[in-house]
Amino acid sequence: MDGRKLSRHFSRAEDLDSEGTLKILVCGGGNGAHCMAALASSRPHVDVRVLTLYADEAERWTQALKEEDMTISITYSEDNIEDVKSRPSLVTKDPAKAAEGIHMIFFTVPAFAHAQYLQAIAPHILDNTLLIGLPGQAGFEFQAVKALGDKAKQCAVASFESLPWACRTLEFGRHVQLLGFKEALGAAILIGSKSNLTSHSLDIIQFIFGENPVFKVINNYVAINLMAKSIIHPPLMYGRWRRYTDEVLHEKPLFYQGVDDEQASLLSKVSDEVVMTAKVIESKRKNIDMSAVIHILDWYREYYCHEISDHSCLKNAMQTNKAYDGLLHPMKQVATKGSEGFVPDFNYRYIREDVPFGLVVMKGIAQIAGVDTPTIDIIIEWAQKQLNKEYIVGNRLNGKDIGETRAPQVYGFETIEDLFHI
Ligand code: NAI
Repeated sequence: MDGRKLSRHFSRAEDLDSEGTLKILVCGGGNGAHCMAALASSRPHVDVRVLTLYADEAERWTQALKEEDMTISITYSEDNIEDVKSRPSLVTKDPAKAAEGIHMIFFTVPAFAHAQYLQAIAPHILDNTLLIGLPGQAGFEFQAVKALGDKAKQCAVASFESLPWACRTLEFGRHVQLLGFKEALGAAILIGSKSNLTSHSLDIIQFIFGENPVFKVINNYVAINLMAKSIIHPPLMYGRWRRYTDEVLHEKPLFYQGVDDEQASLLSKVSDEVVMTAKVIESKRKNIDMSAVIHILDWYREYYCHEISDHSCLKNAMQTNKAYDGLLHPMKQVATKGSEGFVPDFNYRYIREDVPFGLVVMKGIAQIAGVDTPTIDIIIEWAQKQLNKEYIVGNRLNGKDIGETRAPQVYGFETIEDLFHI
């Protein structure tokens, strides 16, 4: 796509400059936000602002930019890493300044922070703005549409099934490392009935990201909710730590590449339950295509095709996925009897984000579809104890803390018809 006149897709003549610059806002201050801000700033005719509401991140990032541009080190292959310099035009904690004239807003923060950003920005959002959960994680659309209120009809909400890259901030506000690209990535878009936006907006996002990953437009948002990759971490955490009492480990175990048969089997069963949910929805509602919801092993085979050296089963695929090289369990460091050791961190986003904004949402959709999810239920039951919350009671989402999750029931969706009339 020609980089010029990008913003013509946004039908807001009043804020086009002569170049037709596309104005995008990146929300967040973590790894993904650094990567998105630096990558998008390197594209022609794209003006990038960053809104970070967390602690003193806006001040620190602004200070860093006074000294020099950001560097993004892009890994194309082991021996092909390119350093690119770029800079967002503004980093702020002021939502009004951040959102002025903006065409697209990327939410690139863990899902537990989405509400805070949505509430802050909603009053400043113009008609025909595209809000993008990057990744949305399950339930992003429910939360975004509710936060926008009547404005939702004039806007569009898109959600990506995962982050397009593996990335790490090396130096805050200065240097981010793009460790690898996914090969493909699904995204769904919900377009408000009075909005001028079209699904071509997703083509513009492809231009911003570059060639990889190749986007696949998923034709309904319920499918993308069931495709969220928040299904991976909780079964692996449960499988590894469910018998844990209080021992201190001397080293952090490998997270993905340390997967054993039991963990792989748990993940596979969770995925079976999600795929069954999609099939039942498809069978109960005419003209709905849920075929994008595939088993996690098939997803690994497709999305990490070249990184995985043994595709024969889920355990081997995870253990031999180069994109997972060296990634460890989230652990907290503790001092014990004069030496240092590690204990599992159950408050890390692998549970804190991926259960209330992942598995619980999928359970909610399964409950609506009338699909039993015994494995998901057991994992939620265990995880809620670690978080000191109550989401599930028996096999129903009736726990006292369910309102803190993004289960569809929290937003009043009780039937399959409700889900498709958001
Ligand atoms: P991160 O852990 O780097 O995010 C940290 C940032 O979140 C902080 O800098 C702050 O801006 C914000 N934050 C943290 N706690 C907060 C709080 N209590 N209130 C408000 N803001 C708070 O996350 P990252 O790596 O950028 O990931 C973003 C999303 O992408 C997550 O959903 C993650 O699961 C997903 N993801 C990340 C990948 C990666 O390689 N980094 C790969 C695949 C998915």
